[in-house]
Amino acid sequence: MLTLTFHGHACFLIEADDRRILIDPFLTGNPAADIGPDKLPKIDAVLLSHGHGDHLGDAVAIATKHGATVVATYELAQFCNDQGATVHSMHIGGAHRFPWGTVKLVPAFHGGAVEGDLTGKYTTNPCGLVVTAGGKTVYHTGDTALTVEMRLLEGRVDVMLVPIGDNYTMGIDDAVRAIEFVKPQIAIPMHYNTFDVIKADPQEFRRKVGNRADVVILRPGESLKHS
Ligand code: NI
Ligand code: MN
Repeated sequence: MLTLTFHGHACFLIEADDRRILIDPFLTGNPAADIGPDKLPKIDAVLLSHGHGDHLGDAVAIATKHGATVVATYELAQFCNDQGATVHSMHIGGAHRFPWGTVKLVPAFHGGAVEGDLTGKYTTNPCGLVVTAGGKTVYHTGDTALTVEMRLLEGRVDVMLVPIGDNYTMGIDDAVRAIEFVKPQIAIPMHYNTFDVIKADPQEFRRKVGNRADVVILRPGESLKHS
């Protein structure tokens, strides 16, 4: 059993077994966020898909305040560590079992620069995050194009968090193909309507997914309980 709460754009909170895992905490400056970082419950881990500002967001501040561990690709984890956060570095293809669940990093096709890194030395591969907690597996694709690598996750995902906003990531039609590849039980659209350039209609996504998955449209602040 886990509870998944959407906090706008690509930020999700996973709660399972009294532990809380926060993904891509872009809250400060996020026009779609329902809360600021000061309103979060106690966080155990902060997971990052990549270093762009709309994903890295408040990660270091939240991790430092809560004594939470930042989990990211090696270079991005180093950046967060150099900013003062406790980190656990991983890389694409690797999984690690933490006290609060298991994380596997999977490929994503996107940009790798890290917001606030003036040297360029922390530039990394963006990734997707496969998180297993509370007996369920959640796949946060990160910002990505449609990729054939997604097929490797076919049948292994309960809940898929998929961008539909286009321009920087998959749009609706490719997101539907991503659902065909992965075959999750539940699909939740993300990374849309935060800014004008990523405007998209989640009802159109739901219609096009049809009976391939249950599409759950969460507004910022809303939760899904999955058991
Ligand atoms: Ni990005
Ligand atoms: Mn983004």
